[in-house]
Amino acid sequence: MCGIIGYVGFRDSKEVLLNGLEKIQYRGYDSMGLLIVTKQGFKRVRSVGDIRQLRKKVADAGGNSGSWGLGHSRWATHGPPVEANAHPHKAEHIYIVHNGIIENAEELKAWLKGPFLSETDSEVVAHCILDSYKKNSSLKEAVFDTISKIKGEYAIAVMSEKDPNELIAFKKGPSLVIGLGEKEIFLSSDAQVFLPYTNRVIFLKDGEMAHIQNRETLYFYSDKKQKIDKPITLLDSYFTETEKKGYPYYMLKEIYEQPDCIANLIETHVNKKACKVEVGINNEKDFLDQIVQKGRCNIVACGSSYYAALYGKYAIEKGSRISIGVDMASEFRYRSPVLSSRTPLLLISQSGETADTLAVMRMAQELSLPVLSLCNVAHSSLDRGASAQLYMSAGMEKGVASTKAFTSTLFILFLLSIVLGRKKGSLSLSEEQKIIPSLLLFPDQMKEVLSREKECVAAAHLLRALKSFIYLGRDIYYPLALEGALKMKELTYIHAAAYPAGEMKHGPLALVDADTAIVGLAPKSHVSKKTFSNLEEARSRGGKMIVVGTRGDKESVSLSDCFLSIPSCNTYLSSILCVLPLQLIAYHTACSLGHNVDQPRNLAKSVTVE
Ligand code: F6R
Repeated sequence: MCGIIGYVGFRDSKEVLLNGLEKIQYRGYDSMGLLIVTKQGFKRVRSVGDIRQLRKKVADAGGNSGSWGLGHSRWATHGPPVEANAHPHKAEHIYIVHNGIIENAEELKAWLKGPFLSETDSEVVAHCILDSYKKNSSLKEAVFDTISKIKGEYAIAVMSEKDPNELIAFKKGPSLVIGLGEKEIFLSSDAQVFLPYTNRVIFLKDGEMAHIQNRETLYFYSDKKQKIDKPITLLDSYFTETEKKGYPYYMLKEIYEQPDCIANLIETHVNKKACKVEVGINNEKDFLDQIVQKGRCNIVACGSSYYAALYGKYAIEKGSRISIGVDMASEFRYRSPVLSSRTPLLLISQSGETADTLAVMRMAQELSLPVLSLCNVAHSSLDRGASAQLYMSAGMEKGVASTKAFTSTLFILFLLSIVLGRKKGSLSLSEEQKIIPSLLLFPDQMKEVLSREKECVAAAHLLRALKSFIYLGRDIYYPLALEGALKMKELTYIHAAAYPAGEMKHGPLALVDADTAIVGLAPKSHVSKKTFSNLEEARSRGGKMIVVGTRGDKESVSLSDCFLSIPSCNTYLSSILCVLPLQLIAYHTACSLGHNVDQPRNLAKSVTVE
């Protein structure tokens, strides 16, 4: 979850590192730090909080700059976000930045002498390198020796005051990328950090080390300590710089970008002339045929991407009669799933760096299962590791709470349900042709829903005073209820849960009182009457009713304390429309409570530890 950066070149490294940290603080913003190699020696500055606090501290510290350095943005795993736990950590002359978890930190701590000045597992690595350095007198050998002792998944970058012209990086798990400029070398968890300077990058693989000796010389080593050649990748497609464009938060900007994201996906995947959906998959072009042949596919993901996967299950099973297994990656990897040979796997991840999802990819690779990735970030670890690729194409998503990547994923899964339905023979061409006009209309319907933001501001006014939220939906609306509850809890820090509406009587109804908000998803559909009955039952117990329903539908209006309307459309599309007011009520409730919605407490955008 943390972000690592490094620089060796001719520029003012302080500026390169601070600008880089600003870009990777989505990985963690509990605390930050940097190390600059100046003519007077190594200078370390650390601070609690995000990049603003670090910039201030660096400015206050003043002093000389240099053209080498390391930086780190932290998401706390071991020890609270206090300055002593911020990186870089040091042991005498050794400095390290670390992303990941050292599983045997306690054992190593007992064996090493210390003194340990932090509560982190990371500091142990610095001491381990120091101990080896004393025996080896070579930073490279000391790092090799250390990685043979430490257990876990991690990426590290190391410098020593005794070898100020060396920077060593090693990866086993979390991503690490080298950028090659003209007489300058960059290092980062994420290539976007150095894209303003170069698009020539080298992705380290697990077990590989990069040894930078000066701004033009670097060597790569395998886990067997052998020198290796590494291919250079030219990043042609990556996110361009993003600004807030006048919005108070990235999240709100990203909510409003959703109609354009969907319009973009329509341009790519819908053949308007032939009135046909054509989803283009990179590399294994016959991936969807493999799914049809097997009659089964497993979809695995985390968080909002998992809820999208659940939507995919409902839509694909109904549309194509192909059986879809859905799992959270953190469960799938440990629960010994029954995996029949060659059953295709779809892994969904906005970032493409989620540790649990990557672990499932490695499991699949060992079993030689075909893996299709659906990522937003091209060149991410998942995107590079999968055998076939599809893209959300939503542009950079900066808000920690996913919005546009989520709806783009839902839309692609709906498109997949159409193609798979056709390939399986469950959906005729004429049925498909009837769906196409509603797809083409969809971006405008999204815009129309967003134009009613005021309704959501009013709902937020009611919601901010309540103690808990229960989101209810049936069938295809249930995954959206889960997503709505997640948005609400992660932004407002108020407890929210989602249930299939029919489950309320089996227990959760006991929670309902006058301090409970019931958010019902009930647009006109084959299940709306049933959902209304469940909402009525919750209302009779005193719940405050927020209903997302079809515009003009009297039944939902009469049930609601606050009615959030969406236009009438195809059930699979109306469920996607439902998420827009849910995003907006979470956003406005959180804003009215004074929270920073782009950086909710305790969270990070890219979850690179399990
Ligand atoms: C919630 C949210 C998270 C992510 C989850 C998976 O708003 O954004 O739940 O969906 O951490 O992330 P990715 O999709 O990058 O694997």
